[in-house]
Amino acid sequence: RDGPVGVEYFLEHGAALKQELKEKGALLFRGCGVNSAEDFEAVLDAVPFENMPYLGGAAPRRQITHRRIMTANESPPDEKIPLHHEMAQTRQPPDYIFFYCDTAPISGGATTLFDSRAAFDLLNLVDQSLAAQLETQGVRYTRVMPAVTDPASPIGRSWQETFLVETKPEAERVMQGQGLRWQWLDGDELRTESPVLPAIRLDPVSGRKTFFNSVIAAFTGWNDTRNVGQRAVQLGGGAYLPSAVFEQFLDRAATEVVNVPWQVGDMLWLDNRLVMHARQPFEGPRQIYTAIALESG
Ligand SMILES: [Fe+2]
Repeated sequence: RDGPVGVEYFLEHGAALKQELKEKGALLFRGCGVNSAEDFEAVLDAVPFENMPYLGGAAPRRQITHRRIMTANESPPDEKIPLHHEMAQTRQPPDYIFFYCDTAPISGGATTLFDSRAAFDLLNLVDQSLAAQLETQGVRYTRVMPAVTDPASPIGRSWQETFLVETKPEAERVMQGQGLRWQWLDGDELRTESPVLPAIRLDPVSGRKTFFNSVIAAFTGWNDTRNVGQRAVQLGGGAYLPSAVFEQFLDRAATEVVNVPWQVGDMLWLDNRLVMHARQPFEGPRQIYTAIALESG
């Protein structure tokens, strides 16, 4: 979309845009007259997307507007954030994720997209048996969280901020609700293990299988002083992923992705069930806002 439009445009065309998003997976709005976090929120309110709190996610973020807008991942600029479906390491990932560019970086910082229907086809081509194991066994994610948010880590959200709580008993209630197993470690760090979650899902719109999971992110990116990525994800049966095969898949995926460089005022909508996103390293003060939503509403 090109050219300024008001919130009325989104009120009028919201249902059609949502339908288009469910087919294409991503829509970029450039120069459409969205000039602030408040405008961004007004647009999201105008379209039937049900707001969802960011509960159980790993990235350090800050709340911008009272209701639905947060900063995107605030991890260090020189680090790439690998491809992932938002919160696919949890039992209820959002159906949609939205980004808005408040401040564009001086260089780099593109958001990279990869269609997960294509990702499944590619994995199936690289190693049919790994694709089948992921499909039949699912995956389990393990993560150690700090007691205080660690901005030096891309997965440095403290357990208090991860679960939106203040005390250990409150955290335990939320973890129970999310089906997590946990262990308290020295220094009030927390080790969590997810239930076995699906790694391959079916897109009801196209009838195609999708590589809908957080496997790439965990395998390549869950590295900090507390975590080792290649040990952060396991097949449901307990095995770790075969590194050589998985790296071959990643190498080929890197040639199929699409980069979206940001301009101020850009708004990017993603169907989180269809498209993975990643962040390229950047220089300068990049500020991207984000919100997540569920299908209903
Ligand atoms: Fe993300």
